[in-house]
Amino acid sequence: MTSESIFAYTQANKAAWNASAHLHGQGASWDRLLLAAAQPGFNVLDDCLISTLRELAIAGRSAVQIGCNNARELLSLAALGAQPLLGIDQSSAFLAQGAVLSDRAGLHPRLLEANIYQLPSDLGQHDLALITIGVAN
Ligand SMILES: C[S@@+](CC[C@H](N)C(=O)[O-])C[C@H]1O[C@@H](n2cnc3c(N)ncnc32)[C@H](O)[C@@H]1O
Repeated sequence: MTSESIFAYTQANKAAWNASAHLHGQGASWDRLLLAAAQPGFNVLDDCLISTLRELAIAGRSAVQIGCNNARELLSLAALGAQPLLGIDQSSAFLAQGAVLSDRAGLHPRLLEANIYQLPSDLGQHDLALITIGVAN
């Protein structure tokens, strides 16, 4: 596969995620997520991942999530003490929802729009890099 064809695929993938974003940023599920994010200790991660992250002792450590979508998982890392937080996603529309969710949670992660195959070189160093289901293809 050439770099041109990879770029064409990622651009199409980005367009599809942006086109679907409005469906996720409205309705009962979104309203529930907004309410949950405002609760202390907001955490949507599953027990297995939580247990692994506790073993890694991420409290006070910096974390980046690659493909953070609406930042619900990124914000959950704060409940385990990780900070500062950086979320990277290609979709500006989902990152906009992430900003709303962050505001509800009273948290201020950096949310960066970028293609994970063409990341800027000035992202610094992070103690934890998290990538979860549905991102890499
Ligand atoms: C299924 S969602 C991740 C959901 C997350 N695991 C959760 O449960 O909240 C996949 C995300 O990966 C992002 N993504 C996919 N390919 C990407 C790429 N090449 N660069 C940046 N983000 C990408 C999409 O925009 C989308 O927001």
